[in-house]
Amino acid sequence: MTMTKFASALAVCTALLTSAVAFAQDKLPNVTILATGGTIAGTGATSTTTIGYTAAKVGVERLIEAVPELKKVANVKGEQVFQIASENMTNDHWLKLAKRVNELLAQSDVDGIVITHGTDTIEETAYFLNLTVKSAKPVVIVGAMRPSTAISADGPVNLYNAVTLAGSKDAVGKGVLVSLNDQINAGRDVTKTNTSTADTFRTPELGFLGYMQDNKAHFYRQVIRKHTAETEFDVSKLDSLPQVDIVYGYANNNRVALDAFVKAGAKGIIHAGVGDGSLSNAMKPGLVEARKAGVLIVRSSRVGNGIVARNGEANDDELDFVVSDTLNAQKARILLMLALTKTTDSKAIQKLFYTY
Ligand code: SIN
Repeated sequence: MTMTKFASALAVCTALLTSAVAFAQDKLPNVTILATGGTIAGTGATSTTTIGYTAAKVGVERLIEAVPELKKVANVKGEQVFQIASENMTNDHWLKLAKRVNELLAQSDVDGIVITHGTDTIEETAYFLNLTVKSAKPVVIVGAMRPSTAISADGPVNLYNAVTLAGSKDAVGKGVLVSLNDQINAGRDVTKTNTSTADTFRTPELGFLGYMQDNKAHFYRQVIRKHTAETEFDVSKLDSLPQVDIVYGYANNNRVALDAFVKAGAKGIIHAGVGDGSLSNAMKPGLVEARKAGVLIVRSSRVGNGIVARNGEANDDELDFVVSDTLNAQKARILLMLALTKTTDSKAIQKLFYTY
């Protein structure tokens, strides 16, 4: 072969290869990563620092660069929405995040969203978005229990799995998902169960939805409560949410915190009672007075599993209280805030607790 023939054959091969790569990339889903901080973006003084590190240090571009394998599963774009430890998450952050997620998912060139987040309040953000995202496209929230500088940091593999999941057709219509530790949990039901271990996220009793394995999502169940595009909540016109606070049940408790919340303007109170949401003699009169003053009262439980039975440990019909069904207190707070943007009717709000 002459040099000229060789050069033109090479040019043809290069062109074919370039278009094959472009074709493969066209086939990949487009996933946007919204970074909000947390341990997944945390740094420690040494590789063995897994306690006492600083959360929310590493920016989204570095998180993406640290996992070059992401390019094989999605066309990834990153956006730094906040850079905070998740104990500092507020209603205002949630409103901003939900609006941005809705904007992005309305675009035809976005197939799914991953949100990197501190693990401490992941379950709350997940449930808030589960009720306010207006799309069936996948939204996956991910975090890490070890900072990015630790040996065996769990962030990179969690991020890889989350991006794979967000780009998966199987995740469409499943509601907002939380994925860490090779497992897929539903935003409605997942909760953090251990202060520090990597397998902390669980859906006790009801069970997680599936696994991330072999670069694929494997689903075995789904939540039947309404979510995302099926909900009636619209954050597009909201700049704030009504004040709802949580009071806790314990032996020898009192109504001091409850009265302070009501005085500070709470429109709703979640009572995380002992057992099946029981009310102590010290707390009950405060809740009754608050209800008479127009504050919505939801009986939840500090137990963490099971249904709080309506008219069980209290006569809810007579007291005009609402029960939280299976929602824990922090999730009941989210539903009550959103419910109060629609109605103050306790019967209508009870219906919402049995719907979502
Ligand atoms: C946080 O929630 O921001 C800190 C803890 C964590 O991400 O694991």
